[in-house]
Amino acid sequence: MARVVSFRPRRDALTANQQLAWDRRWPQWGAVVAPYDHGPGGIGAGVPPEGQVVPERLDTAAWFGRSAPLVLEVGFGTGTATAVMAAAEPDVDVLAVEVYRPGIAQLFQHCERARTTNVRALHGDALTVLRHLLGPGSLTAVRVFFPDPWPKRKHLPRRLLQPAMVGLMASRLRPGGVLHVATDIAGYAEQIARTGDAEPLLARHEGPAPVSLERPVTKFEGRAVDADVAITDLVWGRLQA
Ligand SMILES: C[S@@+](CC[C@H](N)C(=O)[O-])C[C@H]1O[C@@H](n2cnc3c(N)ncnc32)[C@H](O)[C@@H]1O
Repeated sequence: MARVVSFRPRRDALTANQQLAWDRRWPQWGAVVAPYDHGPGGIGAGVPPEGQVVPERLDTAAWFGRSAPLVLEVGFGTGTATAVMAAAEPDVDVLAVEVYRPGIAQLFQHCERARTTNVRALHGDALTVLRHLLGPGSLTAVRVFFPDPWPKRKHLPRRLLQPAMVGLMASRLRPGGVLHVATDIAGYAEQIARTGDAEPLLARHEGPAPVSLERPVTKFEGRAVDADVAITDLVWGRLQA
């Protein structure tokens, strides 16, 4: 039985301009996350299904050409916030993972416009990235902005921020690193808050953070604000193990 995934199938075709941005940037700034069957439970016990090879750890220092605090952004959509935040923090490296190919091309366009070179894009499932491509304690921050809400009761298992996923994210943070989540769905915010508060490696963050917690208001968020929908930002800090 296949794992229930947190993303929905979407159109994969690129516009002509997106294709040009892809052709220009993908060779240096992009990489594919090999599809990996995590089994029905999703996070699993780490045993590769028969015939599958466990993906190797990513050498981020080689890819970025330097060692710098590393931020993972999960599900960046079209990358509007990603590029703005990366440009504002040139000393931080941003690894951005998305299953939506046109979004990756748009991220490249935003980065080119912002003249920022500290973003790399992974095309694939964040679960594989967190479990296999990144080692424990390798991240200074994890950002998850407006994850798909999956509001129908039968779809709730599809929500990205389940306890096992939050635990995995926490394990990839270094002590003092932060998990920053934003959502415009009240019920999801409550669920995420409960999940983060129950994770033993995390505590609510207070005081200065190792990376900026300032998010630009995207078009998507602006529409929610205009409709008087409350936006919830939640931040936890990773404790010493
Ligand atoms: C509602 S959109 C939000 C996009 C963006 N963060 C924003 O604030 O506008 C959620 C995004 O997460 C992506 N996504 C969901 N699950 C994912 C996963 N497991 N790995 C990578 N991307 C994922 C979806 O493809 C989608 O683009």
